[in-house]
Amino acid sequence: MIKIIDCGSQLTQNIARRIRELDVFTEIVPFHTKPEDIKTEDLEGIIISGGQFSVYDKESPLYSKEVLNLGAPVLGICYGQQSIAYLLGGKVTPTENREYGETNILLSRESPLFKDIPCSEFKVWMSHGDIVQKVPEGFEILARTSNGHIASIKKDNIYAVQFHPEVDHTEHGREILNNFLNICDAERTWNPERDYERLAEETEEKIKGKVGVGGISGGVDSSTASVLIDNIVGGDYHPIFVNNGLLRLNEAEEVRKNFSSFNLNINYVDASERFLTKLKGVTDPDRKRKIIGHEFIRVFEEEARKIEDATYLVQGTLYPDVIESVPIYGSSSKIKRHHNVGGLPENMGLELVEPFRNMFKDEVRKIAENRLGLPKEIVYRHPFPGPGLAIRIIGEVTSEKLDLVRKADYILTDELKERDLYYKISQAFAVLINAQSVGVMGDEGTYQGIIGLRVVTTDDFMTSDWYDFKKADLTAIGNRVTNEVKGVNRVVYDITQKPPATIEWE
Ligand code: XMP
Repeated sequence: MIKIIDCGSQLTQNIARRIRELDVFTEIVPFHTKPEDIKTEDLEGIIISGGQFSVYDKESPLYSKEVLNLGAPVLGICYGQQSIAYLLGGKVTPTENREYGETNILLSRESPLFKDIPCSEFKVWMSHGDIVQKVPEGFEILARTSNGHIASIKKDNIYAVQFHPEVDHTEHGREILNNFLNICDAERTWNPERDYERLAEETEEKIKGKVGVGGISGGVDSSTASVLIDNIVGGDYHPIFVNNGLLRLNEAEEVRKNFSSFNLNINYVDASERFLTKLKGVTDPDRKRKIIGHEFIRVFEEEARKIEDATYLVQGTLYPDVIESVPIYGSSSKIKRHHNVGGLPENMGLELVEPFRNMFKDEVRKIAENRLGLPKEIVYRHPFPGPGLAIRIIGEVTSEKLDLVRKADYILTDELKERDLYYKISQAFAVLINAQSVGVMGDEGTYQGIIGLRVVTTDDFMTSDWYDFKKADLTAIGNRVTNEVKGVNRVVYDITQKPPATIEWE
């Protein structure tokens, strides 16, 4: 296994996904993990992630120098390169010539890290303000950028790169990571589908013959977890579906329909009124989230208590949720305030069952599709946030506004499916902007609502791009919205990437 030392970069998870895509198991550990805990028997290599600090900052996430001496090959990435140079006696300085985005690098020496890369000059993705000015003793320089900055260094089995091989914008990034895995002689045995047997057995040991509860939302994580558990304990498992009144059009029926062939014992609760009452007058996005999260816990608890003898709680927690729960100052956890781990089990006295807490979404999708036979409609469904349409209505949530955004959202999804675009897109939704604009319908002037369309493609939801529609498709969607949704006279298309924008508007 490869251990990734997380120094707080938003891209740390990308490194893990890339390594697993190359069939090697990997885990992310915080930078302050003790060297003896890093050096487990199965350790094959160490990757040190990027991070937003300078090595000289007081809060810089510096790991122990011993990590570089554990015998396993090391690859430092960005801050990883700077921290290796710093810890081993080199010099790191800020530069006037900061490099952000695409940069050219030129390989100056042959090395196993760049083996079989067909050219000596190629494009990489950079994001740094500091550079390695002087390499530590014994290190050689493998590459420089077109600005002359040191782009890669090596000594024995310690390698480092200033750029990010884990992002798609870096040409040959996958080959470079693959070469590092060869340097580590890493076992290529990781396969989530094969791991399914182990995972199912472990889960069975934990819960066989016991009664349990869990949430089900219709999304891939909770659905896959529910089907897996139901396969093991049958009718003893009681998934609870809470309608918070913030769902999409016909969502509750869709979920029931999608599960009709699975015999799941779904407990449906309509708590719409409760949520809407609590949200009256609330405009701040964070408060909306808190209120909805809190109310969800209360409703869920009430329902769960009705299930006699329940001893465990199933959650579709994924690996990214687990990583984001580890507090590393300066990490992406500051930006993402919405992960759904924790809260429920502590006060309910139930044992937590999280079969997928070591997996990424694409890995769960493989299990869902190939091992559990879930339909495509569930497996490749666009994600939908826990707070639902409440964060797609800018400002106060009312049932009239919900109706409006629900219809617009339905039209968008319907058109994407009709046009065979739905599965090419990662997430698509409508937003009701809290403004009115002037329009003209027939001979009359209007002053009505505005719908924003957000349609994005992304690999990991950490960064995203807007979908480049053909004009005819976008026009047809816009026309349908203004024609069919009463109270809307204008539709705008969101053309911001993430970053700087987030995918959701609130
Ligand atoms: P952002 O807006 O952070 O979204 O770029 C990234 C992904 O996360 C989803 N998202 C949420 N999911 N509760 C959730 O369960 C939330 O509060 C929440 N906010 C955003 C978003 O839909 C996208 O898929």
